[in-house]
Amino acid sequence: MLTDLQTEEDPPQRTLSGMSELDQVLGGGLVPASAILVGGDPGIGKSTLLLQAAAQFARQGLKTIYVSGEEASAQVRMRAQRLELTDAPVQLAAETNLRDILTTLDNEKPQLAIIDSIQTMWSDSVGSAPGSVSQVRAAAHELTSFAKRKNMSVIIVGHVTKDGQIAGPRVVEHMVDTVLYFEGERGHQFRVLRAVKNRFGAADEIGVFEMTGRGLSQVTNPSALFLSERGTPAPGSVVFAGIEGTRPVLVELQALVAPSPHAQPRRAVVGWDNSRLAMILAVLEARCGIPFTGLDVYLNVAGGMKINEPAADLAVAAALLSAREDASIPADTVVFGEISLSGALRPVSQTENRLKEAQKLGFTSAIAPKGGKSPTVSGMALNQLGDLTQFVGDIFGAG
Ligand SMILES: Nc1ncnc2c1ncn2[C@@H]1O[C@H](COP(=O)(O)OP(=O)(O)O)[C@@H](O)[C@H]1O
Ligand SMILES: [Mg+2]
Repeated sequence: MLTDLQTEEDPPQRTLSGMSELDQVLGGGLVPASAILVGGDPGIGKSTLLLQAAAQFARQGLKTIYVSGEEASAQVRMRAQRLELTDAPVQLAAETNLRDILTTLDNEKPQLAIIDSIQTMWSDSVGSAPGSVSQVRAAAHELTSFAKRKNMSVIIVGHVTKDGQIAGPRVVEHMVDTVLYFEGERGHQFRVLRAVKNRFGAADEIGVFEMTGRGLSQVTNPSALFLSERGTPAPGSVVFAGIEGTRPVLVELQALVAPSPHAQPRRAVVGWDNSRLAMILAVLEARCGIPFTGLDVYLNVAGGMKINEPAADLAVAAALLSAREDASIPADTVVFGEISLSGALRPVSQTENRLKEAQKLGFTSAIAPKGGKSPTVSGMALNQLGDLTQFVGDIFGAG
């Protein structure tokens, strides 16, 4: 069965759910016969999200089956009532035996099947218990290959597990086209759906939702939401102009630096990378002569957001310095830029988009690296710096 590279393929006919935050993360809607994994902590809202998505896709005319292995049909119907989705033409199955599920799917021929969750599924061709690595792997493999063969899309839910007793979503990641993680902090109502792999769209794309009693509502202006809890500017608080996938997102970074009572001072990070923090602290010490010895350092990304971009380096450094020096960064300023080990500031992508988003939210100035393009955005003063020493000198009058 050989072909050549010339054969013309029409682009896939995607289906939009109408939940724009979800459609965007998928890369512009659901691709036919695609396999998608949605991972996340238990209780974060995966079933809620996918029941809403099922209802939306079904309303758009996709034949949709929701297979629940965790909850009885009555429980799913109760959730549907609470979310006001009972009118949507979704078919329900409460089933965990893979052979039965595949038989049902084969008879019904849906265009979309949702499997909630992969850890409850079991294939009788594998001896071990549901949730074990070999069961999860076998079940995911059977489901994804069935989906490709029968031209059905499948969305597989996977719980992220901490104790390792149950195989987590990582076992499944390489079998699917798209991997989405649903993230959020327990105490916060924000939820971020993040594409970490996508054959049909940009990785790192995010969709932002808010958990309410009536389910997940979409947040189309995440920056405004993430900055909504910001009080008067305090030392240690800095607004980072970030890019998530294709969209700019502003978030507040908060640092606290205090004398440590411990022999080994604490370094605690929420929402950012621990080792990246260690690197920034080392560069501040080695290149700028600003030690953090004997000081506890806490760094928090406000709103329960997680940041992966190296472009946050300079904002992190700014927050740390601001906390250490007890000096506020002006409230109308956003900060972004990558820091190299030499202390040089490296230009980052999409400067213009970052500036535009900041301008839209009422900021009037930005601190950013020199080099690359320096776009002009009206109403935004751009302060471009070459290295961290210059930043320390300019902004804190020290260094
Ligand atoms: N009756 C309810 N009223 C309001 N929110 C609820 C209710 N029931 C559940 N929730 C919300 O939904 C969350 C559980 O979501 P769920 O979709 O079941 O998570 P997952 O499938 O990821 O385990 C709870 O943490 C809570 O925030
Ligand atoms: Mg669930």
